[in-house]
Amino acid sequence: MKKTLWPENFVRIPQEDWAQGEVELLALKYDTVENHGWYSNLARTVSQIGDYMQDGHLLLDYSGGTGILAGRLLEAFPEKCFGVLIVDSSPKFLRLALEKFRHEDRVALRLIRYRKEQRRLDLVDEVLDPDFLARGADGLACTNAIHLYYDLPDTLAAWHRVLKSGARVFIQSGNIRNPEAGEDEWIIDETVEHIHLAAMEIVREEERFVRYRPCLEDREYMRQHDALRQKYFLPVKLLSHYVSALQVAGLPVLEITRQTIEARVDEWFNFLAVYHEGVVGWLGGARKLVGREPADDVVRDRFSLMRLAMERVFAGKPTFKTCWTYLVCERSA
Ligand SMILES: C[S@@+](CC[C@H](N)C(=O)[O-])C[C@H]1O[C@@H](n2cnc3c(N)ncnc32)[C@H](O)[C@@H]1O
Repeated sequence: MKKTLWPENFVRIPQEDWAQGEVELLALKYDTVENHGWYSNLARTVSQIGDYMQDGHLLLDYSGGTGILAGRLLEAFPEKCFGVLIVDSSPKFLRLALEKFRHEDRVALRLIRYRKEQRRLDLVDEVLDPDFLARGADGLACTNAIHLYYDLPDTLAAWHRVLKSGARVFIQSGNIRNPEAGEDEWIIDETVEHIHLAAMEIVREEERFVRYRPCLEDREYMRQHDALRQKYFLPVKLLSHYVSALQVAGLPVLEITRQTIEARVDEWFNFLAVYHEGVVGWLGGARKLVGREPADDVVRDRFSLMRLAMERVFAGKPTFKTCWTYLVCERSA
């Protein structure tokens, strides 16, 4: 099985710079979402992919990150012999995936790099070996990531080029505006804007934050931080935007489903705390904008403020509902 799963001359783990260094804290922190209740969002995708994949099939896990989906697939279907090729743009995330799957013959890894001169990421067919391209992938998964692509049409066109005719594409995200979503369901990243607004109110109200008040009156400073926040947490697009882009790319949508996913506020805090600069970076000034790291006490204040703001946004409740959207597409001939 080990000999036939991957194409001839295929190297599972390339000897590249990203694969040599130490595992970094950022990736480990991100990876804790694996244990969060809201990461049950992967369950439907795992079952869709498991039903579809056959022995000998190869799945591209595009934006596979630290390999959470790959791990769940291998665990859920130990008897099935399909390969998962994780492709991601983060060397740090991929390095952690390598730590998990170094000795797992069913998993391979590829980094898509940023091409500075062209101001774009590699397309997936630019990082796959000729033998892999000649064979084509049988399926593609894209979980919790499609809302992050700034070059969606090019990305999807590249998916089309690396997939076999008839291959299935399994996409899901909690950051798609789905008209079917319940009224009480959040778009998960949109909570950030509300947390920011509540945080500004709290700074105005509470004496302990008095030293941060002047920055709220500095329009240009706040505008720059608004723009930064929208880089971390992108404006949400409609479901129809993705459906038509997929259609245009030759990946027509066969099925759309949605699911309510309950998230715990404390777990969501733990996730957002990693990106405190993107949420309330204006408290003390974001490193990316002011050019210096925030002092430890500023970071502690950011965490306290985020907790208070989240308590306000979610009215003191321990959980909130979110809407996840799942699309299954078929690669046209
Ligand atoms: C929220 S994580 C999701 C990771 C994994 N699929 C999961 O469900 O846990 C988003 C992933 O998308 C990757 N990513 C971000 N922007 C991307 C882009 N423009 N093209 C490809 N991948 C991207 C990130 O490196 C990260 O691994």
